[in-house]
Amino acid sequence: MEDMFKTFPKHNCSWLKGKITWYKNQDFWFPHLFHLGGFSVHQNYKAEPSDVLLCSCPKTGTTWLKGLAFSIVTREKFDPSTSPLLTTLTHECVPFLELDLDKIEHNHKNSTFPLVATHLPYPSLPESVLDANCKIVYIYRNTKDVVVSHYHYLREALKVPVEDSPFVEAFEEFCEGISYYGPYWDHILGYWKASLERPDRVLFLKYEDLKTDPTTNVKKLAEFIGYPFSIEEENAGVVENIVKLCSFEHLSSLEVNKSAGKLRKIVENRLYYRKAKVGDWENYFTDEMKEKIDRLMDEKLSVTGLVLK
Ligand code: A3P
Repeated sequence: MEDMFKTFPKHNCSWLKGKITWYKNQDFWFPHLFHLGGFSVHQNYKAEPSDVLLCSCPKTGTTWLKGLAFSIVTREKFDPSTSPLLTTLTHECVPFLELDLDKIEHNHKNSTFPLVATHLPYPSLPESVLDANCKIVYIYRNTKDVVVSHYHYLREALKVPVEDSPFVEAFEEFCEGISYYGPYWDHILGYWKASLERPDRVLFLKYEDLKTDPTTNVKKLAEFIGYPFSIEEENAGVVENIVKLCSFEHLSSLEVNKSAGKLRKIVENRLYYRKAKVGDWENYFTDEMKEKIDRLMDEKLSVTGLVLK
């Protein structure tokens, strides 16, 4: 495997002071560890028809989607006052395909917990996901806010001070398609096309829609993954309770999510909760940057009919 790595194009991000190397495989850029995970998944993950994949490019709302889906599927076991989300980082509540095969296998054998999260692009999903006809939920987000979120997350995770890390460099690389599981537009397009071909199996969720109307979107999510709310539950406010439990304001205020605890001993929990503000990009982009990325996204997406407003 290591020999194979030597054949992949690689890139050191100047704005991250060479602290991370991306490798390109099958047209997407990944860090080393996730490449290894990706290979192992293809060899060892056997999807079951009941598996529900929560898919996303990093920094597009993964944490939120996981929290909501977790709360939906476990609502008979936990209510908002007993939810593991109160004391455990959301990412640890849902196994990550690239790195948690043992947990997924355990779930297959011992429980009915169906959720599996992944950042893999659609063309890189293991064949068994398609063979088993698994449901897939994909979350995506306004590109400009993703650029800003991606910049802060990686910079802080790798402990590069803001003054040593020009935002413009991160922006330019993002526009070249070099980003965490990028190019971002290709990541979206893979799932978008799949959602057009198999709308009953692939649900597209937009971060901004979840922000504007969480209740409707949480109901849609629950229905799609096969855990619809009953009328009694709706009348009892179960949907609103889940929305509140998983809101940024609530989760980011919890000790576990403010703490110096680290996911996989690498990334501090607090880095998964920054501002969650739609339009934060306006504090970072010049007019030229805005025009450049709007043009780029138009160019990449216009033929598809997908609008990323
Ligand atoms: P910002 O950096 O713009 O604040 P991911 O989960 O894919 O890594 O994405 C992280 C982004 O989602 C961050 O955006 C983070 O603040 C935001 N986020 C995390 N939890 C959220 C929640 N419960 N509701 C809304 N946004 C959330």
